[in-house]
Amino acid sequence: MEKVIRYASEKDIELLITMYLTEVENHHQRAEQFAKDLVYKLKTLLCITDEKVIGTISWDRRGGLNDGVVELVGLGVNSSFRRQGIAKLLIITLIDEAKKYFSVDGCKLRVIYLFMERENKISKLFYKNVGFREASTIPAFYPDDDATIWIKYF
Ligand SMILES: CC(C)(COP(=O)(O)OP(=O)(O)OC[C@H]1O[C@@H](n2cnc3c(N)ncnc32)[C@H](O)[C@@H]1OP(=O)(O)O)[C@@H](O)C(=O)NCCC(=O)NCCS
Repeated sequence: MEKVIRYASEKDIELLITMYLTEVENHHQRAEQFAKDLVYKLKTLLCITDEKVIGTISWDRRGGLNDGVVELVGLGVNSSFRRQGIAKLLIITLIDEAKKYFSVDGCKLRVIYLFMERENKISKLFYKNVGFREASTIPAFYPDDDATIWIKYF
């Protein structure tokens, strides 16, 4: 089945709500909040197949354009589509998009960083695989875990 990666728009709200309800939890209010955050607050790339969202990656610039800094705010692939290279494809697309975003104003992408739960072992393996490294730990950042900051320089 063909996979397409494209930016999320208002028209995708229902698709994102459905994905949250089936993949994350059966909670309508939080599903709607999730979908609206991805569409209105962040830049979100979707991986779509068969008219279903099977993966999302969300990012935004932090600081001024000259800083060249991006925060990767969220990444997820539906459980039945994991280990097929979809997250890798999403991150490669994000890097391309962020490079384009900064170059329009004559600036450069310098850094992508993200926060992750310290005990998220699969995430660690994934981000190592795509060239990130662990930079530091923030104690009690999440309700039930410390956070680690992972970073990639360009
Ligand atoms: C982390 C996550 C996004 C990875 O998505 P994915 O599409 O399965 O990842 P990819 O197939 O692109 O994996 C690329 C590489 O990462 C590593 N990796 C990914 N999942 C792994 C796993 N379960 N076990 C070991 N290594 C893994 C491997 O090196 C893999 O390469 P390989 O398959 O050739 O060995 C996915 O597991 C997920 O959505 N998890 C729940 C949400 C989450 O934790 N998000 C990140 C929060 S910071």
